[in-house]
Amino acid sequence: MPLLTDALVVKKLHLKNRLVVPPIVSGLAKDGVPGQAQLAWYGRLARGGAGLVIVEAAAVAQGAHILPNQLAIWSDSHIAGLARIADVIKAAGVPAVLQIVHGGARAWRTDPLEERVGASNAPIAAGRKPRPLREDEIEEIIAAFAAAARRTKAAGFDGVEIHGAHYYLISQFLSPYTNRRTDRWGGSRENRARFAVEIVRAVRRAVEADYPIFFRLHALERFEGGLSTEDAGAAAQALAQAGVDVLDASGIGQTSVGDWQGISFLNTMSVLPKDAPAGEFAVAAGLIKGGLRIPVIAVGKLGEPGRAQLVLDQGQADLVAIARQVIADPESPSKILAQRDDEIRRCRECFACLGAIRKGAVRCSVNRDIPGELHA
Ligand SMILES: Cc1cc2nc3c(=O)[nH]c(=O)nc-3n(C[C@H](O)[C@H](O)[C@H](O)COP(=O)(O)O)c2cc1C
Repeated sequence: MPLLTDALVVKKLHLKNRLVVPPIVSGLAKDGVPGQAQLAWYGRLARGGAGLVIVEAAAVAQGAHILPNQLAIWSDSHIAGLARIADVIKAAGVPAVLQIVHGGARAWRTDPLEERVGASNAPIAAGRKPRPLREDEIEEIIAAFAAAARRTKAAGFDGVEIHGAHYYLISQFLSPYTNRRTDRWGGSRENRARFAVEIVRAVRRAVEADYPIFFRLHALERFEGGLSTEDAGAAAQALAQAGVDVLDASGIGQTSVGDWQGISFLNTMSVLPKDAPAGEFAVAAGLIKGGLRIPVIAVGKLGEPGRAQLVLDQGQADLVAIARQVIADPESPSKILAQRDDEIRRCRECFACLGAIRKGAVRCSVNRDIPGELHA
């Protein structure tokens, strides 16, 4: 089994070790464009020791954003700003991948009455029920993902990650909970995966054969009625066949039922709760990995001492991503690789970071030296 310090090559992408900074919305963009604080933040993350930085989600269309102060990639005018993020990461000798997203029925809305579109009308955010997409709109969004991937490459990123998880639009199609369509985009497992597969095919045509495509998917949903690990495994195989080079296996860690003016909606969260065992998503990632020939990334409380290497030892993944722990201490990857775990400033799992990005810049209760604090 590989060591965390082992390199990994994916097409033209050379990772010097097995630790990954996964996408983390920093809440530092203005009108979709990165600000100075955001560039400084990515510089710090890139110097923290990980072999790869996957940059936070950028919206592929107007109205498709998932949070306020999020990056945008729906126009060629966004390329120059995004290139500055790619440059700052690559200047530290680390490859950079950009995640692209459409929020669909979970798109960010300040006015809950403003329209959202989705696979079906199942509500998954406070506000009006989503409007099911027409076929011509589905085709338009597939083209928007392809255009965003072309821009990602033009901005100098070493790869693109399609956000197919966390109940944003692509996973709304994948999951039977949110996809209640009866046309060729819904129903059977194969039909539910069609939107994701068509996006991957269109992205592949837009970026050519040698460009790495990552896809983020749910390996595990901690609620009944959604995408099962078995469903996800089948989708992953179809996605790999369509051109995905790396599968980023995330999950749904928490759910609750909300109510907006008598309309109840399912609230989902990607992060495992404090009382959940570390490695729960990684076990499911391992099950999906069994059916794949491409590398898999695992995530979910894997910054705890010894945990990241254990994921590799158990063959659950090829790469290990650490999110909140790098917010708490951006140098966590270097310290983990050098087995200096005792020097890591520990994440308290207080969820302050996730609360903060709904209002503005990311904050952290144990790391006061991050942009959200400095620019408060
Ligand atoms: C502040 C914050 C922002 C996040 N933004 C994104 C994002 O843009 N895209 C994404 O796929 N996941 C996002 N995530 C999820 C993380 O990438 C990761 O999957 C999750 O935090 C679980 O890993 P952890 O237990 O190491 O924190 C975000 C998480 C946090 C805490």
